[in-house]
Amino acid sequence: MEEIEILKASDKKTRLIPNLPDYKSLYPNFSWERAKSELAWFPGGKINAAYNAVDRHLDSSACDKIALYWEGDKGEKSTYTFSQLAKLSNQWGNYLKKSGVVKGDRVFIFLPRIPDLFTSFLGILKIGAVAGTLFSAFQQQALFDRLEDSGAKILITNRELSLRLAEIRNKLPELKQVVIVDDNDFQKNLSAEQSDLEVMPMDPEDNAFMLYTSGTTGKPKGVVHKHLAILSQHVTAYHILDLHDEDIYWCTADPGWVTGIGYTILGSWSNKASEVIFSGRFDASRWYQILQDYKVTIWYTAPTAVRMLMAEGDLPKKYNLTSLRHILSVGEPLNPEAIRWGLKMFGLAFHDTWWQTETGCMCLVNYICNDTKLGSMGLPILGLSGGIVDDRGQEVPRKTEGNIALRPGWPSMMKEIWKRPEKYQSYFVNGWYISGDRGWEDEDGYFWFIGRSDDVIKTAGERVGPFEVESALIEHPAVVEAGVIGKPDELRGEIIKAFVDLKDEYKAKIADKSYEDQLKIELSQYVKKHLAGHAYPREVEFIDKLPKTRSGKIMRRILKAKEMGQPIGDTSTLEEY
Ligand code: PRX
Repeated sequence: MEEIEILKASDKKTRLIPNLPDYKSLYPNFSWERAKSELAWFPGGKINAAYNAVDRHLDSSACDKIALYWEGDKGEKSTYTFSQLAKLSNQWGNYLKKSGVVKGDRVFIFLPRIPDLFTSFLGILKIGAVAGTLFSAFQQQALFDRLEDSGAKILITNRELSLRLAEIRNKLPELKQVVIVDDNDFQKNLSAEQSDLEVMPMDPEDNAFMLYTSGTTGKPKGVVHKHLAILSQHVTAYHILDLHDEDIYWCTADPGWVTGIGYTILGSWSNKASEVIFSGRFDASRWYQILQDYKVTIWYTAPTAVRMLMAEGDLPKKYNLTSLRHILSVGEPLNPEAIRWGLKMFGLAFHDTWWQTETGCMCLVNYICNDTKLGSMGLPILGLSGGIVDDRGQEVPRKTEGNIALRPGWPSMMKEIWKRPEKYQSYFVNGWYISGDRGWEDEDGYFWFIGRSDDVIKTAGERVGPFEVESALIEHPAVVEAGVIGKPDELRGEIIKAFVDLKDEYKAKIADKSYEDQLKIELSQYVKKHLAGHAYPREVEFIDKLPKTRSGKIMRRILKAKEMGQPIGDTSTLEEY
């Protein structure tokens, strides 16, 4: 085993006393029950996550504090105080109520990171409806699957993105209304709404928001979170992001993914954070410019972005980034090299955090007050115990590979998988929540990541199910079958690679090399256009027959082993090979 590099807590330059000064003494005494007093409650033990994120600050000095520094792709800028966010989200709430939205209805948002995305999200929760977010790279197939499964009643989008609905709208009978936010009449109607609203007191277990996420098999599943999720988001944002009153915080995640909900809307605003939201795509110079211009102090980003910045070399030296005091990462393994680079460029270590759509909050983390072991995901958060277990849910000895598992009971554990109770149940074995990740725990209780135990792909930090990509490919007239895997990639962690079995007539045609190359590009673009802009195969390989089990399931494991030049392993259930 390689030697482990340790950054001592005492060598970290954080400038402020961390909100969690001592993990060892506080971990054994923490209780979620006691932490509840950090939130605002309505009579009868009721709560509302959106009220806690924004409205409860209105009777404090934070009322006029800037909650959101927004910057658009073209450099447009605007700012919103907590009081403005409260009013705008109230107007959304009132508008949606008039449109017939009632408690429990699903209202989906399909927008780039513009202010309406955030204010509508809050408005939906305030009236007791369930907010669903859709990443703006989704194309019609991905949209259809999610809108149909959730039975969304209203979709909030803009003109440009709404074009992707053209062919699916009439196949969605439950979708009653599509709201176009850049329509002038709509904005007039919205601003004519009352800016007062009686926020609906919810049972802590009531549904608040949902996100579709991918597994190995089948279409993506709707992970549903409850209002109480804000309790763990609030506490973890306080302890791990280390938000202080004077901080300027920037999380680069999109609310189409869980990080963008937990730590740009709910947990961070619940801590009265002033945050930056940039609606544009990744661009190294632009990112540094934002860090500099807004004097960002806390920055939460992802390993692929860090690697892309690393590829630009010394660029940060051209900017004044001395405001930064704490930097963090999530979504994929953070290699020690990236931490070393951060130390060199910013004098700060990226603090890795591990969690999932299903967990609703950070779970295994590097706290400022603890030593950082480079390459480790860190320790369980206060109020959570983690373990490494075998497939029967029995703990394995330290330093042994197994399934990364968590003891249920933390407030933001997913409440259900929409309409699929058996799928929900399948996560739990012998009293453990099984994450689907493999890893090991060292002698100090630090967790180390090994990989997924299933075929889920992580490309540029985004979770993609191979089945969705395979289904999109077989819609193409040239394709009989496809098997899709994640192929390790230095920059993106993994890229999507598709093995495709063609119809006979196309098999003959690809004897012509230039036709073969052209068809590969066509298939890749086909998925990009029909499924999603981020979930298309960057590599396509034609194959005569796909390896399958006797029952006809494609064995992606074999494809992967073949790709990696590794031994193929147990093939006793194989038909081909
Ligand atoms: O495989 C793990 C990886 O991302 C998965 C969860 O993806 P998603 O539901 O999209 O949520 C991502 C953001 C919360 C995990 O099962 N993952 C997440 N964080 C890390 C990670 N892998 C290694 N290190 C991490 N810090």
